[in-house]
Amino acid sequence: MKVDVLLGLQWGDEGKGKVVDVLTPRYDVVARFQGGPNAGHTLEFEGQKYVLRSIPSGIFQGDKINIIGNGVVLDPALFKAEAEALEASGHPLKERLHISKKAHLILPTHRILDAAYEAAKGDAKVGTTGKGIGPTYTDKVSRNGLRVGDILHNFAEKYAEAKARHEKILKSLNYEYDITELEKQWMEGIDYLRGFHLVDSEHEVNGLLKAGKSILCEGAQGTMLDVDFGSYPFVTSSNTICAGACTGLGLGPNRIGEVYGIMKAYCTRVGSGPFPTELFDETGKTIRDLGHEYGAVTGRERRCGWIDLVALRYAIMINGVTKLILMKSDVLDGFDTVKACVAYRVNGEEIDYFPYDISEGVEPVYAEFPGWKTDMTKMTSEDEFPEEFNAYITFLEEQLETPIKIVSVGPDREQTIERYID
Ligand code: GDP
Ligand code: IMO
Ligand code: MG
Repeated sequence: MKVDVLLGLQWGDEGKGKVVDVLTPRYDVVARFQGGPNAGHTLEFEGQKYVLRSIPSGIFQGDKINIIGNGVVLDPALFKAEAEALEASGHPLKERLHISKKAHLILPTHRILDAAYEAAKGDAKVGTTGKGIGPTYTDKVSRNGLRVGDILHNFAEKYAEAKARHEKILKSLNYEYDITELEKQWMEGIDYLRGFHLVDSEHEVNGLLKAGKSILCEGAQGTMLDVDFGSYPFVTSSNTICAGACTGLGLGPNRIGEVYGIMKAYCTRVGSGPFPTELFDETGKTIRDLGHEYGAVTGRERRCGWIDLVALRYAIMINGVTKLILMKSDVLDGFDTVKACVAYRVNGEEIDYFPYDISEGVEPVYAEFPGWKTDMTKMTSEDEFPEEFNAYITFLEEQLETPIKIVSVGPDREQTIERYID
């Protein structure tokens, strides 16, 4: 069996949670492979809305197994809050959620370090989610991290050592903090975590595949936030791309089947960093209002702009995307004109590839389309698509050389249209 991967092609918040939930009935297992509680994946069904951060978005569909892989970083306090809220709302997960012993733990001091490093950067700050993601992955790579499996042996000692090391750094930064409450909740989270299936997920995942089970890997963040290929240094600290599913779950590259790339019909970004198609005018504000473009967890305003086909072509290449999923086109339903960036103008020259540096001097070149001016939110089949919308998606497919398999026309599970193409 192969695994399919579903991941974001822009700067995150493309709608990954919604589509994973929709696709889950076709799979036996859903697995997260990177990121942590910096993610906020929203799902809506039966009039209820849920936001998931560390728990895979397959948790609401029957008794599927959901795996948190080794590539994920886990904050036990936030995990406990998320899991308890789900259980309280009638979604028991203890038996269905398996957590890799090799996943790294976000310590309370990692969160404080995240804030301290951001403060030290001043205007150059990344605008992180403040969840300790960077410092935790830093400790992983520098071979100082604590892993979920560590909570099973001599944990107090290992924790004290890591905390002391972090305290030294915080002292050198003259950063004032109070860890008491954070640490209390975190320790409660560690006890809570002990009640879950802590597994060698690489063995589990490969064993399931051998037994003929199908797996959907759920990406977090987006390709333009990838630590290698994103808009560095304004990125997250993990590989958000398809290759991350291999390292974050222990899968051979030949195991990858379909790669679903998700994009919005426009583009958003939270936090600092370059964004060539950003709109600072009324149109940008209209997209934000109609698309409710505010952080799923933090409530931060998302920056909005037109869809960027130059960046998308790059993302499709890096991930080996086989099928596209177009989200939130309904937000543009009332627009007279819709634009798509097809090239960049750099130093007076037009380029159609994604350059090394997009931090300045990159001017988008747009193609314009007449809007479809039709409420598409109740449509259930592509047969109902207005002519202008068909022209628009055909143009996107030609430009991106990849078929659009799913069109999402609203936040609810039901507002999802699968196209006839294979
Ligand atoms: P994720 O991080 O990729 O899972 O995306 P988020 O949940 O952070 O952000 C996507 C937002 O758009 C959420 O509020 C979803 O409920 C909402 N959403 C998803 N698909 C659609 C859609 O097709 N149309 C509209 N209007 N909203 C959508
Ligand atoms: P989902 O999975 C959008 C952004 C932050 C910041 C940068 C680094 O919901 O799409 P970090 O806390 O990871 O060190 O922050 O990355 N960021 C996201 N933006 N969606 C996300 O996740 C994000 N996770 C991190 O805003 O700019
Ligand atoms: Mg999100």
